Amino acid sequence: MATLSPAAGLDVPLSAIDVSDATLYATDSWRPVFARLRAEAPVHFQPNSPFGPYWSVSRHADIMAVEARPDIFSSSHEFGGITILDLFDEFNLPQFIAMDRPKHSEQRRVVAPAFGPSEIARMAVEVRRRTQELLDSLPVGSEFYWVDQVSIELTTQMLAILFDYPWEKRRDLTLWSDWGGDIEAAINPATNLIRHQHMLDMTHALDALMAERKAKPPNGDLISAMAHSEAMGDMPFKERTGNYILLIVGGNDTTRNSMSGLVQAFNRFDSEWARLEADASLIPNAVSELIRWQTPLAHMRRTALADAEIAGVPVKQGDKIVLWYISGNRDEEVFPDAERFDVGRANARRHLSFGFGVHRCVGARLAELQLSVLIEELLARRLFPRQTGPAEYVPQAFVHGFRKLPVVLERH
Ligand code: HEM
Repeated sequence: MATLSPAAGLDVPLSAIDVSDATLYATDSWRPVFARLRAEAPVHFQPNSPFGPYWSVSRHADIMAVEARPDIFSSSHEFGGITILDLFDEFNLPQFIAMDRPKHSEQRRVVAPAFGPSEIARMAVEVRRRTQELLDSLPVGSEFYWVDQVSIELTTQMLAILFDYPWEKRRDLTLWSDWGGDIEAAINPATNLIRHQHMLDMTHALDALMAERKAKPPNGDLISAMAHSEAMGDMPFKERTGNYILLIVGGNDTTRNSMSGLVQAFNRFDSEWARLEADASLIPNAVSELIRWQTPLAHMRRTALADAEIAGVPVKQGDKIVLWYISGNRDEEVFPDAERFDVGRANARRHLSFGFGVHRCVGARLAELQLSVLIEELLARRLFPRQTGPAEYVPQAFVHGFRKLPVVLERH
């Protein structure tokens, strides 16, 4: 098992803390370090990380305050992108999560209706049918790996439904998402070419789908909405690739890791499952609490466009500002007994896992739908996923989740 590097831990001067250290996440030991930052240095500067100098914003209120000022704290890819890792040159693709107004708003407006109430209601029928089929195919009483057989499979199915993508080819989406989201593979010369080929395959396949949808009247699915729009119907090549990656990766790791977090949360706090068995009306709140507790993306990053202050601390034009959702979601000022997973938590919906402000996750309702349906269908079958061994975590500071999670389905 990896050991914590000295700069990550607690027994170091405040100035040496580096929460970008992957071992914090690989070993699931990030909680006390962020608690210390929130208490002692809620806006904290680390000058010497492997990702270069960056500010950490760790309190709930301060994260919201930064996100509420997009004209000062930019998301634009022109300044290196939306994660702690700066991306430049050929790795830095335009995509609307990494754009500022006005272009961000124009493209978001095209995509948003595909996640509106009527589309969600339409997709709900299909999401439920596919979830039922999957659960009915799983072994009861013998061990299997939840991440691959449930989290990845259901998330892939959800994206195939959203895109109206050919069903039998749906694991293409998983492959492209895994390579598209793997930035280390992009900057490693040994894997860069393989990733590049996958991204070309993805762009060609989705281009073909766009052309097919453009030739037909609009039908409400996401690809059709893009194909028929002025803002996204005729994008240059790099922008098409960037936005395809966004829509595939954005929904994939995130929803996948909420489903895996479900297992860990209900196993660590197993009285909470009994509460849902007794009262199904708690499910929507349980979904919000799950997304808070797991926080599938540990952070988002902004770049200061001018000298400014965050909670009274001066930052300079050009500084990298990292908003640690994983910490804001544990802020005791907002969530008392924050480490506790409580399906009845009164303000669970105030979590920051979907971000806040103009970039707040456009797919939030679809993710919530998929998670609600999964819980409802487990309960309907009186099945509970019992964790049977240690989890293997994703060893990085952006995607916060699981590689492996052994379970046995128990009949309750
Ligand atoms: C944006 C998290 C599911 C598509 C975001 C942001 C976060 C996030 C943190 C950036 C917010 C900000 O900068 O303020 C999540 C989580 C999910 C999830 C935790 C699941 C639990 C999905 C799904 C889709 C999706 C299912 C659909 C494919 C997007 C897109 C954006 C986005 C397109 C860019 C929005 C914009 O820039 O205006 N998401 N997401 N997400 N998400 Fe999600």
